[in-house]
Amino acid sequence: MLIAIRGATTVDNDVSQEIKVAVKNLLDEIWAKNSLHGKNVTAIIFSNTCDLHSYYPAKAAREAGYFSAPLFSAAEPDIYGALPKCIRVMILAESSEKPVHVYQGKAVSLRKDITAKFNVAIDGPAGSGKSTVASLLAEKLKVLHLDTGATYRACALACVRAGVDFKDEKGVKEALSRACISISYLGGAQHTYLDGEDVTAFLRTPEISMGASDVSVYQYVRNKMVDLQRAFAEKNSCVLDGRDIGTNVLPAAEFKFFLTASPKVRAERRMKENALKGIEQPFDEVLKEIQERDFQDKNRKFAPLKQAEDAILVDTDNLTVEEVLAVVEKYIQVKI
Ligand code: DC
Repeated sequence: MLIAIRGATTVDNDVSQEIKVAVKNLLDEIWAKNSLHGKNVTAIIFSNTCDLHSYYPAKAAREAGYFSAPLFSAAEPDIYGALPKCIRVMILAESSEKPVHVYQGKAVSLRKDITAKFNVAIDGPAGSGKSTVASLLAEKLKVLHLDTGATYRACALACVRAGVDFKDEKGVKEALSRACISISYLGGAQHTYLDGEDVTAFLRTPEISMGASDVSVYQYVRNKMVDLQRAFAEKNSCVLDGRDIGTNVLPAAEFKFFLTASPKVRAERRMKENALKGIEQPFDEVLKEIQERDFQDKNRKFAPLKQAEDAILVDTDNLTVEEVLAVVEKYIQVKI
């Protein structure tokens, strides 16, 4: 069936670079939330308020890689009281799903009915199931999932590639001051980039797990990643999983959960995950690594792993993923 997805965004200044970034961000989110890909999009139609002169939104879309469907843009008449410097889009696509409309920047004010923004923070130690639960919850709520651990993992990978020891704080800082870490979404799934390369597939090895824990103790690293995470959460309704989301990254998040499980259960889960990925490691080693990471994550100086006072504690030892999800969802539904 043909669906029409609506979206809008604004820029602060009528300059080409801002228009390019705004159009890309808008389309990225629409694509991620509606599982769009080249083939199911029929047309992309833009309009912009007549106070924008410096760039065609359609041209910005083409340059951002959205060229598989016909693109069109036109200026709106000078309507009194219109939201200034605004770009609107309508995307026609073939889909069996309901359209998810996206409003960003000051354009959020245009559709308060569908844009009530909220963030869900899910914190917990390695293997507590937070990442799986966060991903499933985001899918159910039709919002994005930000796996913040992946951003610290990308920092560790940047150090490996620069030949820097994780324990060498000065070297880590130098390597990361040159590294560009970013995220984007393909078909709703997070992809993590290091200097423009999609490194998602290299981030979940035991070496990078420990490296991420090592480098995340440094204030420079935390500031850089927290800036990235906050900027994302400010723009998008999303579920974030990590160690310090409820306490430090988003202390005002609308919903906060803290997932725990005993080290033994978490090690068993990690063994299963590793087996699926073809990684072989003895149980005792996995358990030791989990305990070392717990110790380091809980005892570091900056933003240690800790339950926020207002977070709901969920002990997942005897719960399946579906059961944890049901508990979390119940709280969210009650509050919304
Ligand atoms: O969630 P994960 O296993 O992918 O995280 C890897 C490491 O990154 C973790 O041991 C500590 C660090 N981390 C952090 O310090 N703060 C976060 N919000 C997420 C991860």
